Amino acid sequence: MTLKTANGAPVGASRRGFLSGAAALAGLAVATPRAFARASNRVEALLAQMTIEEKAGQLSCFADMIRPPIGDMNPLVNIRNAQTLTAEVKAGRIGVLMNGVGAQAAYDTQKAAVEGSRLKIPLLFAADVIHGFRTVFPIPLAEAASFDPHLAERTARAAAVEATATGLHWTFAPMVDVARDQRWGRVAEGSGEDVFLGAVMAAARVRGFQGKDLKADDSMLATPKHFAAYGAVTAGLEYNSVELSEATLREVHLPPFQAAFAAGALTVMSAFNDVNGVPATANKRLLTDLLRGEWGFKGVVISDYTADQELVAHGFAADDRDAARLAILAGVDISMQSGVYIRYLPELVASGAVPMATVDAAVRRVLSLKEAIGLFDNPYRSLDPKAEAAHTATPAMRALSREAGGRSIVLLKNDRALLPLPKAGKRLALIGPFADDRENVLGAWGGFFADRRLNVDLATGLRAQMADPNSLIVERGCEVETTIAGGFERAVAAAQAADIVLLAIGESQDMTGEAKSRTDIRIPAVQQRLAEAIAATGKSVVVLLRHGRAIALEGVVRDAPAILATWFLGSEMGNAVADVLFGAVNPSGRLPVSFPIDSGQEPFFYNGRTTGRPAPADPNGQEYKARWRSIRNDALYPFGFGLTYASFAVSDVKLSTARLAWNDTLHVTAKVRNVGQVHGEHVVQLYIRDRVASRTRPVRELKGFQRVSLAPGAEREVRFELKREHLMFVGDNDYWLAEPGVFDVWIANSSVDGLGASFELLAAGQG
Ligand code: NOJ
Repeated sequence: MTLKTANGAPVGASRRGFLSGAAALAGLAVATPRAFARASNRVEALLAQMTIEEKAGQLSCFADMIRPPIGDMNPLVNIRNAQTLTAEVKAGRIGVLMNGVGAQAAYDTQKAAVEGSRLKIPLLFAADVIHGFRTVFPIPLAEAASFDPHLAERTARAAAVEATATGLHWTFAPMVDVARDQRWGRVAEGSGEDVFLGAVMAAARVRGFQGKDLKADDSMLATPKHFAAYGAVTAGLEYNSVELSEATLREVHLPPFQAAFAAGALTVMSAFNDVNGVPATANKRLLTDLLRGEWGFKGVVISDYTADQELVAHGFAADDRDAARLAILAGVDISMQSGVYIRYLPELVASGAVPMATVDAAVRRVLSLKEAIGLFDNPYRSLDPKAEAAHTATPAMRALSREAGGRSIVLLKNDRALLPLPKAGKRLALIGPFADDRENVLGAWGGFFADRRLNVDLATGLRAQMADPNSLIVERGCEVETTIAGGFERAVAAAQAADIVLLAIGESQDMTGEAKSRTDIRIPAVQQRLAEAIAATGKSVVVLLRHGRAIALEGVVRDAPAILATWFLGSEMGNAVADVLFGAVNPSGRLPVSFPIDSGQEPFFYNGRTTGRPAPADPNGQEYKARWRSIRNDALYPFGFGLTYASFAVSDVKLSTARLAWNDTLHVTAKVRNVGQVHGEHVVQLYIRDRVASRTRPVRELKGFQRVSLAPGAEREVRFELKREHLMFVGDNDYWLAEPGVFDVWIANSSVDGLGASFELLAAGQG
């Protein structure tokens, strides 16, 4: 029985519940964007002078064809060329340009805005700076495997330094969509399947991109995206509809956004998908009632690329004019690339279909954003060609990329301690389509701004650390999805001539990312056949997986004695993998996504709710239970899993109390000892389970993790805090609430193991 307040909310419940929880767990102070609390006199004065055309211009963002990174990527939609854009900038009809590069050209364009336009309002330069810029860092999913928010903060900071040096103010990142279906290609761009890890990483990246001072030359505005629930597209099919309960929306998909805002994000991008029948980009309940009303977000909402115009294809708007009307009324401030605002807002306002006050509110927010980063006082901030040369692809950037790569690798299997390999005395065969490939090291966004001359392939990275580089034989064997004439034969011969085979197989860069949903998530068939041919030689095989999602491993690949999840690690990929292979770096990454046994289990995630018929441990007792005909519904490698070259023993799990009072803090402590032979890092994870609740609860939920770095034989105590906020969930009437009762808690190495204990949360006023 839950007590309710007069408005129906349970006592102790709140719509903002997780925000405080996330803040407490991630150590965040909830940020109040002062620049937005009230528009300044300068902003009001400008607004008072603006025509409706100029207002619509401030609310419009277009691809920057004045300084495109790689030519015209989307000629169908890019109807504005450099000349047209410059003319429109001078006419005050553009507020934001996106995805351009080059400080000098940006300077010239800014000059056109500031000196050539009537009101001299500076432009914002935005771009998709997702995991690095010229120097590329691991894809966000890989970096999430580091379970190291400080690392994510550092790589985001480095990306901001490089990107702002080329004249950018604003990134469309981090992507904070929780992705529970590995068929979806954009799993690669986020932090995986878990809400807690996602929230912590989201906050870290925002802090990294924005830095401490928004007005600094190297501060880059962050944009959590895609609001909301894009990660829940049905069947993992890109752009598909989303059917989601309010509770799952609030518990799983929204908290990373809240954490990003708590960390200071001032903008957010509306998603392509619908949510329960209402497209996110016309979703007033999401964009206004929830975002601004409930959460108090004061910043700017930008639509995804033509997402407003796509309301027509959704069958939600009658035509483009209607689409513009619906988007602005729902709460989209800036229209990206479709041009529907610049075309239709003037007549929509004139006809009374859109109140001027609505447009004014949006313009106020955009101008306040420009003011918050100091553009009015210094329109040429971040537009210095000298800084561009000095801050790009420096040795420090490349060293960080290598370090981040090493920390993102997950050791999945290491039978008979096959790894690390000696640097001398063994002949190695590096086989597979990624053996010496330089085009697939960066990941989905890698082709965009990256300096690809920096790319280090595996063969180069390995040779650089081998005593005798000639003892490495390289054979591709096949391409990613096709055969190479004679490739298998040469690969088998190479394997036969070697002591150990390194098999570099998996997905290509363009099999992951936007619009790259897969129906099954196995290794492409030709590579699986190559693996079989290599395994038949009887040589020891180390699998080096290349991937942007969890992969369903099968056959000889699954059964290889050693497997490393190496994702797409960025510019320094070859060096980072070699560091781990030869033991210079002890792997310490943990899976941010569960590897299922079989593709058909997707969507698969560790924190599903229990059923009335859970599968028992006894494999013979599984009739009429929640299992597949052929397999249990388990992971092959669960969320949180990862080995190291060291070994860790966890013991002495202690709770400060077995009866947690409503407003108290529970301390959970445990001892961690390195019982291995080498120095290593262990990721200690804390999971809970609410045993009985008024809604069925996940079998486990991650509520904390800590990295512990220990020399052989060393021991340390880890300490976690649990408060009522961490035990909350979204109840029947969509409010966050905590319910008194028994909770299980585990200190674990992954989402499926651990030392357990339990405690009781006492009701308010009890105990
Ligand atoms: C579409 C993608 O969904 C979004 O993430 C990106 O920021 C925009 N395109 C702009 O490139």
